[in-house]
Amino acid sequence: MRWLITGASGFLGANAVRVLSSGHDVVGLVRDINTAPWCDQKVAADLLAVDTLERAVHEVEPDVVLHCAGMANHQACAANEELAMRVNAQASGVLAGAAAARGAAFVYVSTDAVFSGARGWYEENEAVSPNTAYGRTKAAGEETVLNAHASAVIARTNFFGWSPSGHASTLEFFVRELGAGNRVPGFVDYTVTSLFVEDVVESIERVVES
Ligand SMILES: NC(=O)c1ccc[n+]([C@@H]2O[C@H](COP(=O)([O-])OP(=O)(O)OC[C@H]3O[C@@H](n4cnc5c(N)ncnc54)[C@H](OP(=O)(O)O)[C@@H]3O)[C@@H](O)[C@H]2O)c1
Repeated sequence: MRWLITGASGFLGANAVRVLSSGHDVVGLVRDINTAPWCDQKVAADLLAVDTLERAVHEVEPDVVLHCAGMANHQACAANEELAMRVNAQASGVLAGAAAARGAAFVYVSTDAVFSGARGWYEENEAVSPNTAYGRTKAAGEETVLNAHASAVIARTNFFGWSPSGHASTLEFFVRELGAGNRVPGFVDYTVTSLFVEDVVESIERVVES
């Protein structure tokens, strides 16, 4: 299958390119064509420029679009929620619509932050309850995606692992700080079921292939 992976320069996208390249024809979508040297095939498009997104899907002719690009930083989303809404919600709807128009599968990588966390152990069909700017924009993204592509896959996840920058994941933070001999204070009232990033990609691959 031909996979178009958005956010190929980022933490999840780079891992997705590496894992999926062993069994598929993979094209990375990047904002800047000079990034993500690990992609053998790349196209450039900006989530804020609708025409570039639609053109990229049209040119690549993917069977699957795995949408990993987005504003994943909570602080950045809180600082400019309107921009985060355009990037995480509106652009996702445009990409999903472009995938639907060519009959391609679409996967939107969402987050456990669509729930407030007040209770825990949420079921798939529960109403969302985001209490952060990031969570609100991702919940809105789920809606725009499903409106544009009724059979899109929404993967609500949370992951750890190794990123190209070495600074994108919590695991890297702990390894760096503890490796330098620093004490790292942690939370005692926070439980999360994070997955290893490669397992997230392989789970998505299994769902798409099934
Ligand atoms: N990290 C987690 O634990 C986690 C948990 C749940 C869900 N998610 C979701 O998983 C996805 C990937 O997260 P991540 O941790 O891999 O994030 P990341 O490392 O910050 O990567 C984000 C990617 O999005 C791209 N991007 C941002 N704005 C763009 C724009 N305007 N046009 C084109 N590309 C743009 C970035 O490109 P540049 O390199 O050019 O900036 C980068 O490749 C996100 O949708 C996030 O919400 C992440």
